[in-house]
Amino acid sequence: MIFPALSALLYLFSRLSTSQALPLPKVYARAAVRQNLSQTQVASTLLRPALFSRVAYCSSETVANWSCGAPCDALGPNQVLLTGGDGGSIPRFLVTHDKTTNAIIVAHQGTEKDKVLSVLNDLETALVEANATFFPATADTDIRVHSGFQSTFERTADQILQAVQSGLKSTGATKIIVTGHSLGGAVAVFDGIMFSQLLPDVPLEAHMFGLPRSGNQEWADFIDKNIGDNFSFVTNQNDPVPRLPPLFLDFQHASHEIHIDDVNAAGQAVKVQTCLGQEDLNCTAGKSLLDVSVNNHAGPYFNDIKFGKSQCPLG
Ligand SMILES: *[C@@H]1O[C@H](CO)[C@@H](O)[C@H](O)[C@H]1NC(C)=O
Ligand SMILES: *[C@@H]1O[C@H](CO)[C@@H](O)[C@H](O)[C@H]1NC(C)=O
Ligand SMILES: *[C@@H]1O[C@H](CO)[C@@H](O)[C@H](O)[C@H]1NC(C)=O
Ligand SMILES: *[C@@H]1O[C@H](CO)[C@@H](O)[C@H](O)[C@H]1NC(C)=O
Ligand SMILES: *[C@@H]1O[C@H](CO)[C@@H](O)[C@H](O)[C@H]1NC(C)=O
Repeated sequence: MIFPALSALLYLFSRLSTSQALPLPKVYARAAVRQNLSQTQVASTLLRPALFSRVAYCSSETVANWSCGAPCDALGPNQVLLTGGDGGSIPRFLVTHDKTTNAIIVAHQGTEKDKVLSVLNDLETALVEANATFFPATADTDIRVHSGFQSTFERTADQILQAVQSGLKSTGATKIIVTGHSLGGAVAVFDGIMFSQLLPDVPLEAHMFGLPRSGNQEWADFIDKNIGDNFSFVTNQNDPVPRLPPLFLDFQHASHEIHIDDVNAAGQAVKVQTCLGQEDLNCTAGKSLLDVSVNNHAGPYFNDIKFGKSQCPLG
């Protein structure tokens, strides 16, 4: 079944690509030699963030005392510092102390695969100035960000910043990890940049899944400069969401895409590759419009991890 929003988007793509040459991304990898990521590398950096992003879909009541069933149990003991959100204009979120890694985790709920294209369509996609209250170094620059994603971020930024600051003190945690799937990933990118600006001395990691583009080329460069190698976003096979909003509207991804090329019948990623530079044409940016699967947006990522409310057995 083709979703109406998807066909509208494809129509838009086809119109624009026949009426004008689709500009190439401004930075891209030539003669890319991509690295294969081993299971060990995946397990040490990406697996737990993916599991936390999955928990972010579960109800605040079950997450608050870490009793959300399998998604919580898969992570071991956590001291939850803050939960909130309404599952609507304020997607659910959690701030927790992960005892296994002694990190403060911030995770945001994303969007169900059958709604994601219409939600992306409905959100204000204008490129606007970044909010200098949270990102002081963006003042008087050409950095522009996705208006709808930034507004969503602003609704929770203050309380999340406070919870993280007091959590670092009360738990003795040694780093912050931000994560999210889909629109939750977009919000978590803003969180990550906020921490890099306002808590620059605290080690930070940021790992996203099924991430849409969140700003312009200068914003992508700002992410590269401020989070660099500690930033990554995982794209799964033919998921169209990481291709939106499109390059021709001046949106651009930061570096450090990790692309899942192949998944076996058991839901294990069997081919995971690091991509080179921003918008590597050998990864998602190079996909044809015919290679679209909205189902790939939900997963499976790595060890059969899927995202959505259906993954939360207790609601
Ligand atoms: C993609 O990778 C192949 C081999 O891995 C290489 O021959 C090709 O030049 C790459 N394409 C781009 C656009 O980097
Ligand atoms: C990655 O793995 C594929 C097989 O899945 C292999 O063909 C390719 O050469 C490997 N690339 C590198 C850089 O090792
Ligand atoms: C967690 O909270 C829920 C709802 O508030 C309650 O039903 C459940 O018994 C609590 N579980 C534990 C392990 O405390
Ligand atoms: C930045 O976000 C804060 C908190 O939501 C808001 O009060 C303020 O108006 C925003 N600033 C700009 C320039 O949009
Ligand atoms: C990047 O992550 C590593 C591992 O968590 C951490 O030691 C390092 O301090 C981080 N770097 C920055 C700039 O946050």
